[in-house]
Amino acid sequence: MKNKSIKIAMIGLGTVGSGVWKILTQQRQLLEQRIGVPIEIKWVAVKSPRKKRPLAIPKTCMVSQINSIFLDPEIQIVVELMGGVTEAKEHVLQALKHQKHVVTANKALIAECGSELFHAAREAKRDLCFEAAVGGGIPVLRALREGLAGNHLNSIYAIINGTSNFILTEMFQQQMDFSVALKKAQSLGFAEADPSFDIQGIDAAQKLAILIAMAYGVEIPAQNIHTEGIESVSLLDLQYAQRFGYQVKLLAIAKSQQGKIQARVHPTMIPENSMLAAVQAENNAVLFDGDFVGETLLYGKGAGSEPTASAVVGDIIEIARNIKAGVSEAVAPLGVNVESLRPARIEPMDMLKSEYYLRFQVTDRPGVLAKITQILSQLQISISSVYQHGHEAGGKVSVVVLTHLAKEKNLQKAIIKINQQSFVYAPTTLIRIED
Ligand SMILES: NC(=O)c1ccc[n+]([C@@H]2O[C@H](COP(=O)([O-])OP(=O)(O)OC[C@H]3O[C@@H](n4cnc5c(N)ncnc54)[C@H](OP(=O)(O)O)[C@@H]3O)[C@@H](O)[C@H]2O)c1
Repeated sequence: MKNKSIKIAMIGLGTVGSGVWKILTQQRQLLEQRIGVPIEIKWVAVKSPRKKRPLAIPKTCMVSQINSIFLDPEIQIVVELMGGVTEAKEHVLQALKHQKHVVTANKALIAECGSELFHAAREAKRDLCFEAAVGGGIPVLRALREGLAGNHLNSIYAIINGTSNFILTEMFQQQMDFSVALKKAQSLGFAEADPSFDIQGIDAAQKLAILIAMAYGVEIPAQNIHTEGIESVSLLDLQYAQRFGYQVKLLAIAKSQQGKIQARVHPTMIPENSMLAAVQAENNAVLFDGDFVGETLLYGKGAGSEPTASAVVGDIIEIARNIKAGVSEAVAPLGVNVESLRPARIEPMDMLKSEYYLRFQVTDRPGVLAKITQILSQLQISISSVYQHGHEAGGKVSVVVLTHLAKEKNLQKAIIKINQQSFVYAPTTLIRIED
């Protein structure tokens, strides 16, 4: 007897949606073997149904009224790949309300509305999966939620914004300025026309919020993550980093200490021989440090049509297997019961202790270095090395200082004070160092 297929509906057939369509049609037999029943795409909803598409989608699959998807009793899984927050959230809630399981790749939606959606899924007793929301094709969340579930996570270090990593790699390898590397990223499709979310660190912060919620069993701390992007990193900083044996990466960092969680996204100097320093171009990597497993690195393509679709299809398979086995909610969205989630106790950034790279842009005149070191010392910031970059036009120079461990609070005070000095002609650059 032929096995009954599991019918799904897709909302969105853009970059990721097309990839999902391709995998589900081209790997039909493989998936049927792995699940035990075929997956059938019954409906596809798009914004502009008349748009010409490279895929041969049967006209009978296209719906103009999204509501008809939710009302169709045959549909068991709704796959949300339209992006955005407000409308996508409505569709996900409607799908759950109508007893559909949901897969989404939408990090902004999960980061901003995760708690509400997890409760809705719990109430509907349906699965809500979002593997593609963090790390694109890399199965980061499944590894964290299942394979590493027996560990307490000491730390997470992640390169989870491919655009920023591509730009920093290009700047360093081709000795380009930031603006030139950004244009190259845009021309190759690695950066959006409006790249703000990526280069300001917001995209990485949303993904880190999801990782933290899953790693520490807390509500998604979307608003509390200290976030800096790569816009203020110059080629000169990358050259200095190399001189000191470092590479600069936009890192998303979480550390758990005495019940509090450090949560921050910022450009970071890391040793050039470290595993994360080897992550080049648009690739992503997440380094987990679990108390029993030790360090575990996941590496691969963090975006793009087919890698991201691979993660979405992984979620569809998980849910389809559960449907076939007659279970749902086998694993809660964050791996813990939603009722047990508590607000995350995020440590204020002021409390951070770090080593720092500081680049002061000053007029070259006697007494400048003495004044800088005096201010730093008044705030208990001890210097490990000082370098002065050769003369620039108009007697301007860069003075670079590396510090020993210092308090962030003191560092920020010192920078404000130094930036007020008459010899400073441009704001100071600060890059934290993680050894
Ligand atoms: N692209 C990536 O590499 C990547 C990686 C990880 C996660 N994601 C996430 O995946 C999601 C989709 O991204 P994408 O890059 O595939 O976006 P996209 O290329 O812009 O595609 C969006 C799709 O949604 C459809 N759509 C938009 N508004 C709609 C509406 N109101 N009703 C029905 N359909 C609507 C569009 O229809 P038309 O085709 O008619 O315009 C299009 O097919 C986003 O949440 C994104 O953050 C993307």
